[in-house]
Amino acid sequence: MNCFVVFGMQWGDEGKGKIIDVLSSKVSHVIRAQGGNNAGHTVVTGKKQYFFHLIPSGILYPKVKCYLGPSVVIDPLFLLSEIKNLIKQGVSLSNRFFISKYAHVIMPYHKTYDIAMEKNRGNSPIGTTAKGIGPCYMDMVARRGIRICDLLDQKEFAKILKENLSHPLYPLGASDVFEKIYADYLCAAKELSQYVADVETMLFKARIHEEKILLEGAQGALLDVLFGTYPYVTSSHTQAAGICMGSSIPPTKLDGVVGVMKAYTTRVGNGPFPTEIKEGDYNPFASCESIREIGVTTGRKRRVGWFDVPLAKQVIERSGITSIAITKLDILDDFEEIWVCTKYELEGKLVECIPADLSSFSKLVPIYQKIPGWKQSITNCKSISDLPPKAIEYLEFLQCHLDVKIDIISYGPQREKTIVSGRCL
Ligand code: IMP
Repeated sequence: MNCFVVFGMQWGDEGKGKIIDVLSSKVSHVIRAQGGNNAGHTVVTGKKQYFFHLIPSGILYPKVKCYLGPSVVIDPLFLLSEIKNLIKQGVSLSNRFFISKYAHVIMPYHKTYDIAMEKNRGNSPIGTTAKGIGPCYMDMVARRGIRICDLLDQKEFAKILKENLSHPLYPLGASDVFEKIYADYLCAAKELSQYVADVETMLFKARIHEEKILLEGAQGALLDVLFGTYPYVTSSHTQAAGICMGSSIPPTKLDGVVGVMKAYTTRVGNGPFPTEIKEGDYNPFASCESIREIGVTTGRKRRVGWFDVPLAKQVIERSGITSIAITKLDILDDFEEIWVCTKYELEGKLVECIPADLSSFSKLVPIYQKIPGWKQSITNCKSISDLPPKAIEYLEFLQCHLDVKIDIISYGPQREKTIVSGRCL
């Protein structure tokens, strides 16, 4: 595959970072397609640990070029600190990290507004990351956003910033606020300008030369602003079509779509989660800390539940997934039984089509199939044939229900704890 998408099939935090890291070694270019510093993941290589929020982790491979695409929303001060941290850890970005001029800029008032909107939602906040993601996309769609190319043009930047600061949405219009933001952002723009490039043309040329390109999605399919559990979603298109657009790669040039899913399900923030394990339910999961289910960006504990076939199938249908990577299989090592939701009931009837409205969605009753666990550690497995037969049965069960091949199996944060069948590349 020359051009392929890698994205999360659940509510984010599927372990995409590690899969993208493993696949990045096989490509020449990695482009992050959407979202902003609401995302976060850790990559462990030997004794070193790297934290990523915006920059693709492909940057750890010296021959790979990395890009922030046109649909990414960028907090310039945050990005600078991420760049500085990577440089401090010995990673070189020069001539291999590029920012699209079309990308929109997160402003301080976006963060203030994000927090204010959450307060305004009273008892049903979305649980955003408070990074200003939603308001930045809001300004983009309202045609008053500031793009990287505008930030680099002092006059244009001043003009749009003044207009926005006097907008009734952002009650911050004092001139000292303008002066402070203007100065801080111009300073950041000066530092970032070395990385700004014609990303779209560079990727077009790479395609013409048949170089391999990985399109990196952020968050997860069920947080998609259109097809996710609206309004408990993020503000970008997290599914494959959105990732194509956000990378400037035409859909006709895509060779494959790799969906990443956990062997179970987690969610951070609020919103419906039909297979969530509640108090009093059968719960073989250890504490969030010990199963590494603490958010990298916000430090919040993730809600935990069972694998959900109907939701995964909907994502497969709408994103055209051609290959699956399953992560965190090792977390199920000690389980007596593993539950999988294979169907839903709504008001006593089997559901054929997942309801779009939140009130029906929240009433879905999962129907579980219980699968015997393998009850042994898989940490030293090196190939599929090393896996216990019951672990293989679990993978085959999922594969059969989803009708897509599982090509990558991850069972620990380290790179070497991965089995890649090779078919997906
Ligand atoms: P926002 O993207 O900050 O607006 O947050 C909207 C929702 O998406 C909240 O429920 C967040 O917890 C969730 N979210 C945003 N980014 C991520 C991510 O990278 N992983 C998991 N959840 C996320």
